[in-house]
Amino acid sequence: MDKVMIFDTTLRDGEQAAGASLNAQEKLKIAKQLEKLGVDVIEAGFPVSSPGDFEAVRLISEEVQRPVICALSHANAKAIDRAWEAIKEAAHPRIHVFLSASDIHLLYQLNKSREEILEMARKMVTRARNYVGDVEFSPMDASRAERAYLYHILESVIDAGATTVNIPDTVGYATPHEFGDLIQSILVNVPNIHRTVISVHCHNDLGLAIANSLEAIRKGARQVECTINGIGERAGNTSLEEIVMALRTRQDLFHLTSNVNTTQIYKTSRLVSELTGFAVQSNKAIVGANAFRHQSGIHQDGLIKEATTYEIIDPRSVGIPASSLVLSKLSGKHAFRERLAELGYALNEEALSHAFHSFKELADKKKEITDRDIESLVTEELRTATEAYHLDHVEVSCGDHSLPMASVRLVGPDGQSLADAALGAGPVDAIYKAINRIVGIPNKLTEFTIKSVTEGIDAIGEVLIRIESDGITYTGRGASTDIIVASAKAYMNALNRLLAKKAAEEGKA
Ligand code: KIV
Ligand code: ZN
Repeated sequence: MDKVMIFDTTLRDGEQAAGASLNAQEKLKIAKQLEKLGVDVIEAGFPVSSPGDFEAVRLISEEVQRPVICALSHANAKAIDRAWEAIKEAAHPRIHVFLSASDIHLLYQLNKSREEILEMARKMVTRARNYVGDVEFSPMDASRAERAYLYHILESVIDAGATTVNIPDTVGYATPHEFGDLIQSILVNVPNIHRTVISVHCHNDLGLAIANSLEAIRKGARQVECTINGIGERAGNTSLEEIVMALRTRQDLFHLTSNVNTTQIYKTSRLVSELTGFAVQSNKAIVGANAFRHQSGIHQDGLIKEATTYEIIDPRSVGIPASSLVLSKLSGKHAFRERLAELGYALNEEALSHAFHSFKELADKKKEITDRDIESLVTEELRTATEAYHLDHVEVSCGDHSLPMASVRLVGPDGQSLADAALGAGPVDAIYKAINRIVGIPNKLTEFTIKSVTEGIDAIGEVLIRIESDGITYTGRGASTDIIVASAKAYMNALNRLLAKKAAEEGKA
């Protein structure tokens, strides 16, 4: 059966989402998981955009072997040289050159004529081809470009050596019928199109990214650019899990497959959510908390009789584990380890012992421990493993007639115990002020959200915060059955990330 190539741009377009900021190690972790997921291409970043992005692309190129590693580049010599520098050690490198093609962009943004753009595109694809045999070209804002001009650019870059031509709906403006027609007309009107793969790259401004991508595939596109959880610039990109599962579930219509190992989808979604700090909405298709939950009595009745009555996808096929073991305070370390393995976590002995200890503490407070509780415990464990400052103790006093006051004790980088106290506008403010008195790094809290991991009064509360320092945003997460403790942990997590970034920069200087 014919295949669709899955081009994942979580680390590039996904990371362009406002508020996302991943360091090189986090990007590498995601790239390794994308490799397990079986994507064909990883767009690892935009090397010329910042030294941090360059470093992440270089690291991924060295460490991730199976997929093609792609670097995005402006259509200019410096950016292409930098892109090549970052990916030259990759087993399968690709340079992705982009240049605007619509008159709106040419007139208002680039102030260049169509002829000038055509020449730049041809020249820069040639330059990239001199470095590497795998070159992708994207005429940005293609869906709003004049068609005859678009055909002309495509023909010209294919002649110059582009091996993939990507058609972006940059502003999410197209409708499925229109976008499918665009792909069909490219196939008819670009004489050398059969020498390349047609790719599509859709944004979700009108909620049509998936529909547009599927229609393009139906008309002949054989590469889809997408992101985990659909994250990306503005309203995001085509969501990888939705496109893959649509192709698989409706094979009767599309007659197409992908190389994705769908059982890795859920784990990848959780990892990206955890590291970017973007929660997945509960009704999100495939990976949302409610995607496989059945509330209505009629539906539940049908499901018990035969799952396919109301379920078009087996949740296990996307890696959502069927809980055979229910853990409680009576469960031992062995059962805990087994459950972790089923959920895809392999911890070393020390981390396992810590996580098991936290599990026992939680089990004392909560009757039944769900998979989400366990995931939360483990990610908390992994989060705190590399901290410079560790939260050892936090205590607050507050109420409607008292001044909120917090005392905290941290374990510092050299193992020293550091304690302080502060008053605040509320208990969280008091904690953050007390921590600031110890760590002493100026920053501004820009976002604070709290949600429960599962239902019930005894649920784990998860706090997500973002802080800003020197124009850079850092995300922090913390989880605990006590939301005040979760808030303190989230702040420590964000501060530790800030400190790690500063230390990495000082190391480089
Ligand atoms: O949306 C877009 O046009 C892009 C290009 C760089 C492919 O992200
Ligand atoms: Zn994009």
